[in-house]
Amino acid sequence: MTQTESKTIDTLLEETRSFKPPEDFVAQANVKDPDVYQQAAADPEAWWASWAKKLQWDKPWETVLQWDAPYAKWFVGGKLNASVQCLDRHVAAGHGDRVAYYWEGESGDTRVLSYAEMLAEVSRVANGLKSLGVEKGDRVTVYMPMVPELAMTVLACARIGAVFSVVFAGFSAASLRDRIQDQEAKLLITADCCWRRGKVLDLKKVSDEAVAECPSVEKVLVWHRGDGIESQSPAQERDVTWEDVVLPQSPECPPVSMDAEDLLFILYTSGTTGKPKGIMHTTGGYMTGVYSTSNLVFDLKPKTDVYWCTADIGWITGHSYIVFGPMANGVTQVMYEGAPNHPGPDRFWELVAKYKVSVFYTAPTAIRAFMKWGDEHPAKHDLSSLRLLGTVGEPINPEAWVWYLHHIGGNRCPIVDTWWQTETGNIMITPLPGITETVPGSATKAFPGVEATLLSEEGKEVGVGGGYLVITKPWPGMLRGIWGDPKRFEETYWSRFPGCYFPGDGTKRDDKGFFWVLGRVDDVMNVSGHRLSTMEIESALVDHEAVAEAAVIGVPHELKGQAPVGFVILRSGFEADDALADTLRKHVGTLIGGLARPERVLFTPELPKTRSGKIMRRLLRDVAEGKVLGDTTTLADPGVLESLKQGYESKES
Ligand code: WT7
Repeated sequence: MTQTESKTIDTLLEETRSFKPPEDFVAQANVKDPDVYQQAAADPEAWWASWAKKLQWDKPWETVLQWDAPYAKWFVGGKLNASVQCLDRHVAAGHGDRVAYYWEGESGDTRVLSYAEMLAEVSRVANGLKSLGVEKGDRVTVYMPMVPELAMTVLACARIGAVFSVVFAGFSAASLRDRIQDQEAKLLITADCCWRRGKVLDLKKVSDEAVAECPSVEKVLVWHRGDGIESQSPAQERDVTWEDVVLPQSPECPPVSMDAEDLLFILYTSGTTGKPKGIMHTTGGYMTGVYSTSNLVFDLKPKTDVYWCTADIGWITGHSYIVFGPMANGVTQVMYEGAPNHPGPDRFWELVAKYKVSVFYTAPTAIRAFMKWGDEHPAKHDLSSLRLLGTVGEPINPEAWVWYLHHIGGNRCPIVDTWWQTETGNIMITPLPGITETVPGSATKAFPGVEATLLSEEGKEVGVGGGYLVITKPWPGMLRGIWGDPKRFEETYWSRFPGCYFPGDGTKRDDKGFFWVLGRVDDVMNVSGHRLSTMEIESALVDHEAVAEAAVIGVPHELKGQAPVGFVILRSGFEADDALADTLRKHVGTLIGGLARPERVLFTPELPKTRSGKIMRRLLRDVAEGKVLGDTTTLADPGVLESLKQGYESKES
């Protein structure tokens, strides 16, 4: 495994295959003039303003950008409502009958919602929220599965100016609690249950456990999933139901005119410390960013395209490219509740064929799983409707890229490998499918109007070679801060290279000027395209009574990209056996959520530390990757490592 992985990185950097956009794709592309890059670079503010103008403003802005680094204000003085961009505009233009979402439940139940129906439902939810006393600026936490009501809920919050914060439904009660507490939410919106790989997830039960420790929450609004499944958690006094609060409401609700810089949402993401960061996004800039990138990167044609992004709305990908970006473009989408391999490993391809999906956006981790499950599964279905493919979340290995092109894209679909983050709000580095030549494994170039470069350790610009990726100019969709922690915002993103935004990714630039994002340079790992902090997992391990000390690293994993592995020193009196290792893995899952559960937990009497007591995770990584041990001269006790290495290898399966 470790051998393959290091080969992968080498091949990745030696990749010479390249693919020009197919002629018939270029002929119909939303943008095909390569001059767009120069035009945008010559005057980025004018470029972004030209996209902002395509939105519907209640009041035009006075100034495009006020930049007092690291604080940006875009479209100053302008007023608009995000839900209007996604709904009213299309209905007013006569497209109310167009399908907004084809929804498919995991167990096969289906729903179809037009833009006019979405507008009516969103208005009902908005009126329901108002009836519960939710006002502009109030925080609403949303803990829901992938159902249309989740999209309706965030749009309804946007409609009345409430700040929504979606927590992925795979997160634990403790994670949900921490987020609700941090933002002091007034309302929690949840579902009783949902399906996941044929199992029922009892979201209400998790919610009740979380809310028990959240005094700010006045009410819990519960949507009933139906389909014969029910929560086992008893009703609480604070509970109100969707049936009572939302359904009787009027399908009309005037949108609140929001300042361009009014907060739209908070979304939490892992950083290098144990405490997740509440990333703040505002209305005008975010809408401009997701609208323009959806339009140009996914080449959306609202009249004919059926677009499917397989992410969950609980992550930024779903916010930007299932709700706000595609809906602002008025395109038809597929939304799917469940897992890619339930009931069978061809579920995605069955859905592509059923709905004639034309633009498909997924994660490398999923592509690697499809490769493993076998070529026969996509081959069984008619995938000829597809015309464009995208990936996001982590570096894609060239093998997976080429497999995607052959087996899903029928060798005719351009692939857009899109690099961006929760913090950037929208896609930042990506090919433009009608212009950019693509190379498997490279996200290619900065989106027009985005200025990206590489800096060395000392802050010198790197032309060709490796360095730290930075963004040198503000962009409309950029985060405006961390909820409640301005200092952390400045330190995390703006202090490493003053004046530049530092995303934390190690990157290479080749002689074409293309970027190859290789991975995080901090104590953050990327597991199946999800960001996890090593510190958060370490805290979860140490939370268990058996654990005296823990160190966590991300190791290369065939399917997940990276997987967490924990090294644990036990307290005396506890037996280092497989059962305890399993208990500790599960403990992390319970405290954070299943995706954080370590792949392995290894017991050790010592951890490699510097003389000043810092754990040297770099050396643990060498142990786990079977590499020749790096420089150990700064270790307090070099012997520790040899025994760790032997212990690790003897357990390798
Ligand atoms: C981190 C951001 C953006 C939505 C999903 C993840 C990694 C993301 C790529 C890509 C290489 C990528 C980076 C980034 N990443 N896309 N195309 N190639 N790496 O959002 O949870 O905020 O994580 O994901 O390391 O910093 P996120």
